[in-house]
Amino acid sequence: MTFSESDIIKALSTVEDPDLKKDLVSLNMIRDVDIEGNTVRFTVVLTTPACPLKEMLRKQCIEAVKKQVGEDVDVDVNITADVTTVRNQSPVLPNVKNIIAIASGKGGVGKSTVTSNLALALAESGSKVGIIDADIFGPSIPVMFNTESAKPGVVKMEGKNMIIPIEQYGIKLLSIGYLAPAEDAVVWRGPMASSALKQFLTDTHWGELDYLLIDLPPGTSDIHLTLVQTVPLTGAVIVTTPQKVALADATKGISMFRQQQINVPVLGVVENMAYFTPEELPDNKYYLFGQDGGKLLARRYEIPFLGEIPIVQSIRESGDKGEPAIMHHEASSLAFRQIAQELARNVAIRNANLETASLG
Ligand SMILES: Nc1ncnc2c1ncn2[C@@H]1O[C@H](COP(=O)(O)OP(=O)(O)O)[C@@H](O)[C@H]1O
Ligand SMILES: [Mg+2]
Repeated sequence: MTFSESDIIKALSTVEDPDLKKDLVSLNMIRDVDIEGNTVRFTVVLTTPACPLKEMLRKQCIEAVKKQVGEDVDVDVNITADVTTVRNQSPVLPNVKNIIAIASGKGGVGKSTVTSNLALALAESGSKVGIIDADIFGPSIPVMFNTESAKPGVVKMEGKNMIIPIEQYGIKLLSIGYLAPAEDAVVWRGPMASSALKQFLTDTHWGELDYLLIDLPPGTSDIHLTLVQTVPLTGAVIVTTPQKVALADATKGISMFRQQQINVPVLGVVENMAYFTPEELPDNKYYLFGQDGGKLLARRYEIPFLGEIPIVQSIRESGDKGEPAIMHHEASSLAFRQIAQELARNVAIRNANLETASLG
């Protein structure tokens, strides 16, 4: 049996990435093809580390190669991932591949809880992740990561003073809460808060990151404007509860991101506090805040629905304790992991579409 690299490439150009709707060869995902006797090895570089389609793609690659060169071939597929970016030409933070705002219309819907757990879920699957807590009305990342007394350092780089983020559980963190005691938060509102956020973006040594999540204040504010004026964002995620008043406010948030001057794509909706399940009755679901509100909102505005998170006492307790739920509580972790996967997928799709648009 003899075959060459070009046979393998031909075979793999029949396998399509179902999200990106193009074949693996055109997507430049095939690397390191190596043929030795009857064995062929190659690497497929996916665009998200926790790609749920990994095993399906592996199977399709093996089948395609066998179809091309014969059933007797041994196919060894190595799957890795490289998070994509369209930000690498950006003057601000070119080494941060994706900047994602986490927003909500109403306060208290779980923005910070979702941000913390998503960050850890993304990091678990191998991504480098950072969080900027830009919620001047109630910075809660210091508490949720048990870093309340941390003070960011400063280092001089190329003659400029740069802030060093705090690092906890593998996540790089900055918060307005590290700069001023909570009691003084009020003085941070307005221009001071905007200038602090600018510094977090332009004068901070973030290094290389796959995802930088921005935990925004609720509603719409100067902070939102400062953010979009300082860096081009990959997109925004809207967190809401299924409750009518929360949905009405979430709608305003979506409209704000879609305004022409702002023009930030909404990557998805997360429905938090979707239902309550008592630990002793795990099959019962009580829809305290109404049912499916987030899903319907996503459908109405043609935004991907990223998933729902139940109300679970341990999610609240873990947040208060400074160890996000995903670190210890299996049941609720599943929801956060699935949402993280969906988010990463939608980021990859968005980046691929933008690349196509700028090439075409
Ligand atoms: N799914 C959930 N189950 C239980 N408690 C939750 C859940 N989501 C958030 N909480 C709790 O609700 C409160 C508000 O959440 P938080 O993330 O601080 O909201 P926001 O950042 O939108 O103001 C916190 O005490 C948090 O622990
Ligand atoms: Mg918050």
